[in-house]
Amino acid sequence: MTPRLVTTVVELREALEPWRGGPIAMVPTMGALHDGHLSLVAEAARHAPRSVVSIFVNPTQFAPNEDFAAYPRTLKADMAKLAGRTDIVFAPSAAEMYPDGFATTITVGGPSAGLESDFRPHFFAGVATVVAKLLLAAMPDVAVFGEKDYQQLLVVRRLAADLGLPARIMGAPTLREADGLAMSSRNAYLDAEQRKTAARLNAILKDVIAKTGNDNADLRAAEQHGVKALLEAGFGKVDYVAIRDAETLAPIATLDRPARVLAAAHLGRTRLIDNMPIA
Ligand code: PAJ
Repeated sequence: MTPRLVTTVVELREALEPWRGGPIAMVPTMGALHDGHLSLVAEAARHAPRSVVSIFVNPTQFAPNEDFAAYPRTLKADMAKLAGRTDIVFAPSAAEMYPDGFATTITVGGPSAGLESDFRPHFFAGVATVVAKLLLAAMPDVAVFGEKDYQQLLVVRRLAADLGLPARIMGAPTLREADGLAMSSRNAYLDAEQRKTAARLNAILKDVIAKTGNDNADLRAAEQHGVKALLEAGFGKVDYVAIRDAETLAPIATLDRPARVLAAAHLGRTRLIDNMPIA
């Protein structure tokens, strides 16, 4: 069955009201849905009999020079993909989310620092504000976020804990194409040649992990190897390749705790990110 489409917070709350006796799950997205998003919806279904998927291209997480206008908007196709997988699609207008005079921004410290914030300083305040608003609108028991956006997942966890939002924040693994490229709505921007190069990002992260020794010099050398390999593969600019504490994203000097390698790099006008655990 096609999910019910609602566009206002009032309608959303009315639609969810009859199901409050049991758990409700939420999957926030910006649409242009791919199988990675659908895997989050499947994860949501494992935790709650009822779920809502939000589709909102959030203007506050894009800087003026970024791809807000170009971001793919495919609501009709998204609704068809969600048939039989979720109960409600919440697709608010920008005016519904940001009414006239809107003046509140949520800033998360801790895991927001560094990495993405060094290159997209506006980004996590936009994400935290909209995610708080989406969770307050739907009041789900569980909300599912992808490890694809690993720093975002940690920021959302911090946000929910610090504001005492009742939703349990669940992380779900990254779904990849056959050649290793993490699925992303932005992959649609890549031409055929860039698409081939894009797959190298994940392969190079695996090399970085294979080269990672135990002490500080080894870790830094592995990161440097990653940057060099990405440039050689044809990426135009590498924002970072970083080995970090998997729980806090703090820099680490030894591999004595769970760690993660995270990277962001540009291919033409497309910016790609990926990350993997270091076992
Ligand atoms: P969007 O990029 O649409 O992603 C929505 C959710 O899908 C995020 O939790 C993201 O981590 C997850 N996701 C994306 N690609 C994935 C993949 N290949 N495998 C598994 N999960 C994947 O992230 C956002 O939207 C926005 O910032 C949002 C949280 C909705 C706030 O506006």
